[in-house]
Amino acid sequence: MSSRRDFLGELWRGTGGALLAASALILHRALRAAAPAPRETTLSAEAVSRAIAEGGAEWGDLFVTGPPSAPAALSLACTHLGCRVRPASSGGFACPCHGSRFTADGSRTAGPARASLSRALLERRGASWVARL
Ligand code: FES
Repeated sequence: MSSRRDFLGELWRGTGGALLAASALILHRALRAAAPAPRETTLSAEAVSRAIAEGGAEWGDLFVTGPPSAPAALSLACTHLGCRVRPASSGGFACPCHGSRFTADGSRTAGPARASLSRALLERRGASWVARL
């Protein structure tokens, strides 16, 4: 036989667990809603082939390069404060704002930027490539 005190203790634990689960669910939904949806850019297969043949080319805010079977796209947004990086004459990319530098594959080599350039996922869809950042 349980006492009133045991009953209230069980009730308290059950209520606490339910509140914790509800809070976790609300937090999970809020974080999912706050995360930006991936941005997609459609690239024609012909343009991607041309960019690869030229050793890489800018497409909007992306730089497309790589082997024809597995092209790659880098974001041209500097990871420091977002200025547009430019291909450097010595190879790789340079940011004109504060001097960050990146290798041809987007790895950070110098400057105030602490991260490498973002790499877009490229997925073949029919006659096009779709870049997702
Ligand atoms: S925005 Fe590129 S180095 Fe500052």
